[in-house]
Amino acid sequence: MAEPVVPDEPLPPDDPDLPGDAPVCLIGMMGSGKSTAGRRIASLLGRRFLDADRELEARCGVPITTIFELEGEEGFRRRESQMLEELSARPGVVLATGGGVVTVARNRELLRSRCFTIYLQAGAAELWHRLRNDRVRPLLRTADPRARITELVTVRDPLYRASAHRLVRTGRHPVERTALDILAALPPRFHPAATSP
Ligand code: S3P
Repeated sequence: MAEPVVPDEPLPPDDPDLPGDAPVCLIGMMGSGKSTAGRRIASLLGRRFLDADRELEARCGVPITTIFELEGEEGFRRRESQMLEELSARPGVVLATGGGVVTVARNRELLRSRCFTIYLQAGAAELWHRLRNDRVRPLLRTADPRARITELVTVRDPLYRASAHRLVRTGRHPVERTALDILAALPPRFHPAATSP
């Protein structure tokens, strides 16, 4: 169960002491395009792309669905938090996170303090459109996955806002447009020209 936070609180301020090679993290609901946009952004910035879920699967040697089956959501969250603790310490990466990472307070703190974090925001109707044929995500294996998405968006939107330095709408536009919006949202010190010698 997510801890309550004040709804619609303003996004955390940009910390000017956060170095320009800090991880750029993408957060948002499943289906918001974090991995696709993240890969594109990483190539535009000349950074390495990491997907926290894929890293976790590689570490455990089994898919996320199996971790949920064997250890439940609680076990998965423990492993996911451990992974964020490690990956958020790596400089020069673009990191896509799992949609539920913000449900843990320590993770929200890491996203705010160690990373420059961008919330890819999409409405429940758009997310349903993208996820309606999904057979992989454990949290959508319910009688009414559409209602589940709406419920998760309601609970998590304030948590994403409390964890991110910028919000970028993903809507239904192509990934290239989202990638450019993310680039525009990044302060100049994160742009390659600012870090090259
Ligand atoms: C989850 C989202 C998934 C994955 C797991 C749980 C969630 O990642 O971490 O199935 O709680 O929303 P994506 O957001 O990459 O689909």
